[in-house]
Amino acid sequence: MILTDEQKAMLEGKYGEGAAYAMKIQVGIGECFDAPRMVPIKRAHVALSNQAGDLWFAEKMVKAGAKCRVAPTVNPGFCLSYFCGSWPHPVEKADYEHMQRTDNAYRTLGAVLSYNCTPYIATNVPNFGEVCAFSESSATPYVNAVWGARSNRESANSALCAAITGCVPEYGLLLDENRKGDIVVHVEADMKSAYEYHLLGMMGDLIGEGIPVFTGLPKVITPEALRNFGAQLNTSGAYGMYHIDGFTPEAPDLETALGGNKPKHEVVITDKDLKDFEEKFSDETRDGKIDFAMFGCPHFTLEEAMHIAKAIEGKKLAVPMYILVSSHAKQMAERMGIDKILTDAGADLIPDTCPDQPIWHYLIGKVGVTESPKCAYYPRRRGINFVLRDLDDCIEAALTGEVK
Ligand code: F3S
Repeated sequence: MILTDEQKAMLEGKYGEGAAYAMKIQVGIGECFDAPRMVPIKRAHVALSNQAGDLWFAEKMVKAGAKCRVAPTVNPGFCLSYFCGSWPHPVEKADYEHMQRTDNAYRTLGAVLSYNCTPYIATNVPNFGEVCAFSESSATPYVNAVWGARSNRESANSALCAAITGCVPEYGLLLDENRKGDIVVHVEADMKSAYEYHLLGMMGDLIGEGIPVFTGLPKVITPEALRNFGAQLNTSGAYGMYHIDGFTPEAPDLETALGGNKPKHEVVITDKDLKDFEEKFSDETRDGKIDFAMFGCPHFTLEEAMHIAKAIEGKKLAVPMYILVSSHAKQMAERMGIDKILTDAGADLIPDTCPDQPIWHYLIGKVGVTESPKCAYYPRRRGINFVLRDLDDCIEAALTGEVK
């Protein structure tokens, strides 16, 4: 790889051990992909997981004196003030201390402590064509496909390295020729709400490996639907990029999205495919009874919190409802009185938190309802079960304690 004088100096340790280590990793990645050079970035998102490997790497970089040149936003762990150990949110001392160490490490590295997995909606939004380093399942396809920015599907660690060095190796989705679609997906399903985009995103097995171009989707698609779509595409498969014919910026028409090439295959997705998935994916309940509802994987927007507040205002939920949001949405909801409406009904609006964290252990063996397959997918490994329904059916289930 050809490096600038400054990049060479960084690699040689002139900017400290941490920066040298980050640059060494990035040069190694670049060489694997035959990248000719490093290109500068002004934006990054680190999908910290608050799990052991993530913390090990972050603390290693802290110990080596690394500091971020580009302050990255970060993914959720869990909210220390909500999961403070008192009932009904017991937390193990070790888990609490682990999150404190994660918080301290990323603070020392100079990250933006946003603890939110949807930065592309409000807090970290790239321009068209901008090169950046985004990790996180819904974030990479959103910045590439929806904003037309350019990011490879970074890992949490490689995105942190990019934030430290301020550059990324130039390969993959940074290059025009690798951004063209090679699969055509004809969507014949009725895409009525953001929920159907969750289900469509889970069709990775049918779509196959490549860059899909979706046809037949509505001409107006909400940010929430696009957020769901990217999150699930990277739960059922690995898609850093996709196109929507006539909607996403690099797909004014099908031919342009395909770069004038013939697709390697075409797929049709119908209502039946989505319905079959919903049925197969849902866990069994005891006579339709559910124990809790969980939303916000990826984090819900303020608008979604308002939608729930409107539906449950003045009522009492039969089971607890956990709504995961950014700290920004939480603060707005508090200012607007939305938070109080939710709390009075028995719902908790929780910032900074992900369902894939050990703090939910008090839900092990219980059955929840959610509108997000990803929300069901990860906690299932921890013994927490879910039934999948659209958001309004989930709200109804939380009010009655039963799912239809
Ligand atoms: Fe976000 Fe965690 Fe779900 S990072 S997408 S809330 S698994």
